[in-house]
Amino acid sequence: MSTSTWGPSTWRDRPAEQQPSWPDEAALDQVLKQMSSLPPLVFAGEARHLTRQLADVSRGEAFLLQAGDCAESFESFEADTIRDKLKIILQMAVVLTYSSGVPVVKVGRIAGQFAKPRSKPLEQVDGVELPAFRGHLVNDVAFTPAARTPDPERLLRAYHQSASTLNLLRAFTKGGFADLGQVHQWNQDFVASSTEGRQYERVAAEIDRALRFMRACGFATDTQPGLHEVDFFTSHEALILGYEEALTRRDSLTGDWYDCSAHMLWIGERTRQPDGAHVEFLRGVENPIGCKVGPTATPDEVVALCDALNPDRTPGRLTLISRMGADNVEALLPPLLRAVREADHPVVWACDPMHGNTFTTDGGHKTRRFDDILAELTGFFAAHRQVGTWPGGVHVELTGDDVTECLGGTDDISAADLGSRYETMCDPRLNGRQSLDLAFQVADLLRN
Ligand code: PEP
Ligand code: CO
Repeated sequence: MSTSTWGPSTWRDRPAEQQPSWPDEAALDQVLKQMSSLPPLVFAGEARHLTRQLADVSRGEAFLLQAGDCAESFESFEADTIRDKLKIILQMAVVLTYSSGVPVVKVGRIAGQFAKPRSKPLEQVDGVELPAFRGHLVNDVAFTPAARTPDPERLLRAYHQSASTLNLLRAFTKGGFADLGQVHQWNQDFVASSTEGRQYERVAAEIDRALRFMRACGFATDTQPGLHEVDFFTSHEALILGYEEALTRRDSLTGDWYDCSAHMLWIGERTRQPDGAHVEFLRGVENPIGCKVGPTATPDEVVALCDALNPDRTPGRLTLISRMGADNVEALLPPLLRAVREADHPVVWACDPMHGNTFTTDGGHKTRRFDDILAELTGFFAAHRQVGTWPGGVHVELTGDDVTECLGGTDDISAADLGSRYETMCDPRLNGRQSLDLAFQVADLLRN
């Protein structure tokens, strides 16, 4: 990798995996030029604030909850869906904080998570071959030549949808909805009636009691911002580099470059080549960044990534998101944990228990077993216990809705149930109950 001069476009001299073949380069350039003068979606100071919170995680003083859709959709874009996703994330954060006593840093896979890497560039159906679906940032899921042709106008649409999603999230998290006094309101009906929902109600009742106790003792709970608003950050995979470049701005306070499309950006498992374009692009922006680490990653490769992405060893700058698969995590993760520690890199280690446990049922549904997800999390905590490092967080795909996409959980969703509400555009997500169940189980792992 290079230590040469960085600029927002130096990635263009590197091999870039997973980029669409845009049919009309001039139309793309036109859109990118237009985007480069649009207002930033997030501000540099907010990204620095997240880096400081993640620095606490890297020191073992906080826990990261990163969660949201596999892929956001242009079609299911409504205030209620965004609100319900925020509700479940707030519930999970309350459960984790209350049960473990550790502050939770909340980051959504939201307001920009529109691009998907694919294992094959083309898809074949009944002898017809078309470009693969790459997320609504690029093309559409319908299997027709028109839908699958990459369309640069989608970049603008994604920008505008991200802006209005972020606007709503800011209103919800700073305008009263995330007030701890509302802790009961986040429990949606279909969740409240379940075992996890009732367990959550008990936690919520104890929080009410604690708040009443504090007020009775004379604490002015009304004036404590920490009780009435939350910091909620956005993140997505920085996949389509033209889009990310066009939203990169120089901060007027520090002169540093920030990718203002989200607070945090991550590099996916398929684009983490140390000499590749994605590493080149993200090494130069000052946002906190993540990098997925799958079962093929060697200790040397992971240390090389740390050196490239965080040469100054800034705590909170780099989160490594391991996604090994339930069967691999206990064997494959400890050597990586040791190598990164020996190289003195202050990373956050988060566990993505989703992407190493995906398979397709005989019925043709891409799914994951809730038990495999829990098994990977358990193995992740065990690996950290063994090495003496901090299991810093979880990275999950979920929705607040009552979908049937992942198998198992207390409702015991079966392969035959998957069809009833299988709504994801890409990977299977935990539903509201499964997400809350997971939070209780992670809280147990954290406490022990
Ligand atoms: C994802 O997070 O949706 C994803 C594609 O993950 P990975 O890069 O780990 O496969
Ligand atoms: Co996914």
